[in-house]
Amino acid sequence: MSVDVLLGLQWGDEGKGKIVDVLTPGYDIIARFQGGPNAGHTLEFKGEKYVLRSVPSGIFQGGKINIIGNGVVLDPALFKAEVEALEVSGHDLSKHLYISRKAHLILPTHRLLDLACEAQKGSGKIGTTGKGIGPAYTDKTGRNGLRTGDLDYNFEVKYKEAAARHEILLQQMNCEYDLAALEKEWFEGIDFIRKFPLIDSEHFINNALQNGEKVLAEGAQGTLLDIDFGSYPFVTSSNTVCAGACTGLGISPSKVGKVYGIFKAYCTRVGSGPFPTELFDETGQKMRNLGCEYGSVTGRPRRCGWIDLVALRYAVMINGVTDLIMMKSDVLDSFETVKACVAYNINGVETEDFPFEINDSVKSVYAEFPGWQTGMTKMQSESEFPKEFNAYMSFLEKTLDVNIKIISVGPDREQTIIRYAE
Ligand code: GDP
Ligand code: IMO
Ligand code: MG
Repeated sequence: MSVDVLLGLQWGDEGKGKIVDVLTPGYDIIARFQGGPNAGHTLEFKGEKYVLRSVPSGIFQGGKINIIGNGVVLDPALFKAEVEALEVSGHDLSKHLYISRKAHLILPTHRLLDLACEAQKGSGKIGTTGKGIGPAYTDKTGRNGLRTGDLDYNFEVKYKEAAARHEILLQQMNCEYDLAALEKEWFEGIDFIRKFPLIDSEHFINNALQNGEKVLAEGAQGTLLDIDFGSYPFVTSSNTVCAGACTGLGISPSKVGKVYGIFKAYCTRVGSGPFPTELFDETGQKMRNLGCEYGSVTGRPRRCGWIDLVALRYAVMINGVTDLIMMKSDVLDSFETVKACVAYNINGVETEDFPFEINDSVKSVYAEFPGWQTGMTKMQSESEFPKEFNAYMSFLEKTLDVNIKIISVGPDREQTIIRYAE
């Protein structure tokens, strides 16, 4: 069997959590392959709402195995808080959630370093989630990281060495901090992690595939936040693209089956960095209000703008997307006109290719569409779609040269229209 990959095509928050939950019944294993608690994946069903950060989004659909893969960075304190909150609401994960022994740990000092680096950057800051993601991945690639598999081998000594190294950096940056309090909850988190099966997840997943089981790889963030292909340096510190599923789970590229690329009918971004189609007027504010565009982890208002097909075509190419999923179509229900960026004008020259750098000289060129001005949130089948919506959708499919398989018309699991079966 193959591994299907679901990943974001924009700057994150496309609705990955909702769709992983919707697709989970068709899989045996759901595995997160990168990122960490910088993610906030929202799921809604039966009037209940959950925001997952490190736990994969397959935990609510009947006892499927969920795996935190080797490519993920895990903060034990935040993980404990997340799992305990789920337990309070009646979801016992102990039998369904496995953690890779090769997943790296986010230390309390990583969090402090993240905040210190941001402060040092001043107005040039990235606007990180402050969860220690960058410093944890820096230690991973610098070959100084601690992994969950290290818990069994001389762990305290390794921890102290790493923390001491970080403290020298923090002192050089003139930081004031209270490490003792952070360490207390962190070590409680470490004890908590020990309750979960720590596994060699690359063996586990490959054996499962050999036995005919189906795996869904869940991405975090989005392609435009990828460390290699995103709007560098305003990106996250991991490979959010499809290739990240191979390195983040230990599966061969030949095992990848479908690649689900998920995007909003418009576009959002949190934190700093370029965003060519960003709207600073009342139209952008309307998207923010109607789409409830506030960070699910940080609560920060998300920047809003029209869909960017130059960036989306690039994302489709990098990921080899086989099926598109369009989210939040309903947010545009009341718009008289809907726009889509079809090219960039850079110093008077038009291009449809995503450039090396998006700077102030990049201006969006738009195609305009009449809005559908019809409520879509209660629709249950494609036959109910207004003709203006169909025209917008067809234009996107033609430009991106991939079919849109799923249309989401609201946050609830049920508000999902699957256009064609396998
Ligand atoms: P993720 O990080 O990609 O999982 O996305 P987030 O959970 O951060 O953000 C998506 C937000 O949109 C969440 O609040 C979802 O509940 C909500 N949402 C998902 N799909 C839809 C939809 O089709 N319509 C509307 N109005 N909201 C949606
Ligand atoms: P999900 O999985 C949206 C952004 C941050 C910042 C940049 C780097 O919910 O889509 P980091 O803390 O990773 O070093 O921050 O990346 N960012 C996200 N934006 N959704 C996310 O995750 C994000 N995770 C990180 O806002 O601009
Ligand atoms: Mg999110």
